[in-house]
Amino acid sequence: MTDTSAPLVSLRGRRVILGVTGGIAAYKAVEVCRRLVDAGAHVAPVLTDDALRFVGALTFSALASEPARTSLFDGPDPIPHTRLGQSADLIVVAPATAKLLGKYAAGISDDLLTATLLATRAPVLVAPAMHTEMWEHPAVQENLTTLRRRGVHVVDPEAGRLAGGDEGEGRLADPARIVGAVAAALATGDLAGVRVLVTAGGTREPLDPVRFVGNRSSGKMGHAVADVAARRGAAVTLVTAADHPATDVVEVVRVETADEMADAVLGRFAEVDVVVMAAAVADFRPKATTAQKLKKHDGVPEVVLEPTPDILATLGERKQPHQVLVGFAAETEHVREHAATKLAAKRVDLMVANDVSAPDAGFEVDTNRAVLLYSSGSAEEIPLMPKPDLAGLILDRIVESLKGNQ
Ligand code: CTP
Repeated sequence: MTDTSAPLVSLRGRRVILGVTGGIAAYKAVEVCRRLVDAGAHVAPVLTDDALRFVGALTFSALASEPARTSLFDGPDPIPHTRLGQSADLIVVAPATAKLLGKYAAGISDDLLTATLLATRAPVLVAPAMHTEMWEHPAVQENLTTLRRRGVHVVDPEAGRLAGGDEGEGRLADPARIVGAVAAALATGDLAGVRVLVTAGGTREPLDPVRFVGNRSSGKMGHAVADVAARRGAAVTLVTAADHPATDVVEVVRVETADEMADAVLGRFAEVDVVVMAAAVADFRPKATTAQKLKKHDGVPEVVLEPTPDILATLGERKQPHQVLVGFAAETEHVREHAATKLAAKRVDLMVANDVSAPDAGFEVDTNRAVLLYSSGSAEEIPLMPKPDLAGLILDRIVESLKGNQ
């Protein structure tokens, strides 16, 4: 079996500072350290005092490329932070506590790690981990917004089991994802430095707690676009209604409904360069949903539908000249004509038109065939090929379009 968690980009020769702060998840930083070293990086660990309460410096010294540092003052070097900061290709802080994020956002440097963060021009990645209440606190979220605005990459935490038996959002991202994000931030592919948002899967619109209105989209096409874009160096956010794993993107937002997808996409649109709307967004949702399961003995319900927001059309209205917008058109007849109408109506740069009634293309299968329609009026017939290959071809066209926008 191939190791899907292996970094997609070699980190050979890259100098990475691994900052570790004091949270339960500090033990997972050991795994991050090992994976970075395995990927070829030269890893210099820096632990805070609080981190030392959870993990030993010796463990990191044994696994990393040089001994762990823990203090501004007790080594032979009088100014270790400037030397560390200046020589780094990248700094990754995992886990990053609420305290670290607060100090970093406010520009406070009272230990080796925070001093190094302020003394560097290298890209910085933070992987927060904390209890859900702390994660959701406006102070923490505002600090993250500030850091993101300054170009800091945030590897969002995941939902799951937390310390003390609690469940919720705030669990440190999987070490493989963190290393994937490091690789993406250091990548040199033709999409390096490009921020790409991809949507995938079919949304589900609830009728009651157990039933929904859905569609046949599997999410394979969108996930392929996200994976290939990440391999080519893009910082990818994947907003997905499918439940495939996604290991190598910077951020995964799991959604269920069209409304949730709209919130996730529209909220991030201003920060990205490219959006690929591969999701099959439901056009209609039940007007009323019930809190309890509809019971058979109450008779056959009459389901009234109402429209959902058209996310792509909204993006088309808000699009800035430097942004590239790609839509997918799922058609069963008059593929080109219908797709061309959508291209114009939603003001996209490129529409990928699929005949979803064909057995070997479109929904649920591993291959796809498409017609690419451009806002210039030209069109390109793409023969049947595996979805990752079509993803690569679409990304080639996006790269050309980004160059044209410069
Ligand atoms: N789309 C969207 N929001 C919706 C519906 C569709 O953002 N509520 C996007 C899809 O992600 C896709 C494009 O619009 O990129 C075209 O979707 P498609 O289902 O082919 O077309 P519709 O606009 O929904 O029109 P119709 O269903 O009538 O073919």
